[in-house]
Amino acid sequence: MLIAPSILNANQLKLGEAISQAAAAHISRFHLDIMDGHFVPNLSYGPALVADFKQSYPQLTAEVHLMSDVPETLVPAFVEAGADLLLLHYEAMPEANLLHWLDYLATKGVKAGLVLNPKTDIAVLTKFAPKVAQVLLMTVFPGFGGQRFLKDAPARITAARQLLDQINPAVQLEVDGGIDATTAAQCRQAGAEIFVAGSFIFKKGSIADQIQQLTQAIR
Ligand code: DX5
Ligand code: ZN
Repeated sequence: MLIAPSILNANQLKLGEAISQAAAAHISRFHLDIMDGHFVPNLSYGPALVADFKQSYPQLTAEVHLMSDVPETLVPAFVEAGADLLLLHYEAMPEANLLHWLDYLATKGVKAGLVLNPKTDIAVLTKFAPKVAQVLLMTVFPGFGGQRFLKDAPARITAARQLLDQINPAVQLEVDGGIDATTAAQCRQAGAEIFVAGSFIFKKGSIADQIQQLTQAIR
């Protein structure tokens, strides 16, 4: 089990402090949300954030969640910036392009993941599961932190896990959106292994306490 904090809803002027505090609480991977203002109605970070992250914290994993439909510009830029893992949305491009970018990431030695929006058919995983290390199921509609977890998510997690077990059991299943101690436990029960949490970790009490609560919930 792994918790990957999303810094999207942390205080943007204190990102270094937030990351250091989470790392001190045994976090080894961060989830960096890239929003292009077009694929999703919000803007966030560019490649410089990832480059600075890797320079300051080379021992931590940078998982880049790319919410953009201009992969031709951004995939190479985030690879260059040092992303350890790049998560691409199924909905962001035609299937042929997605296959192209998954192959590109393989040649660059960057791990690849596929992200599905809440309404996207789980069956699309059949085609892509052999080519990815990770599948991220969105448990909210992407674009903003602090949204409510969608109630049908656990059933989708179970269905995805079953499908992946048939095709490529090594694929790790991740969830993102509205994750707190309660919903994380539900997702864990359904078969998720990696838990992205933003507001629950950075918008409440002490970062260490919030991580501790989440850790207990998915134990
Ligand atoms: C939403 C992002 C999430 C978001 C999670 O589009 O992909 O990673 O930051 O935030 P919370 O945990 O607040 O839902
Ligand atoms: Zn995300």
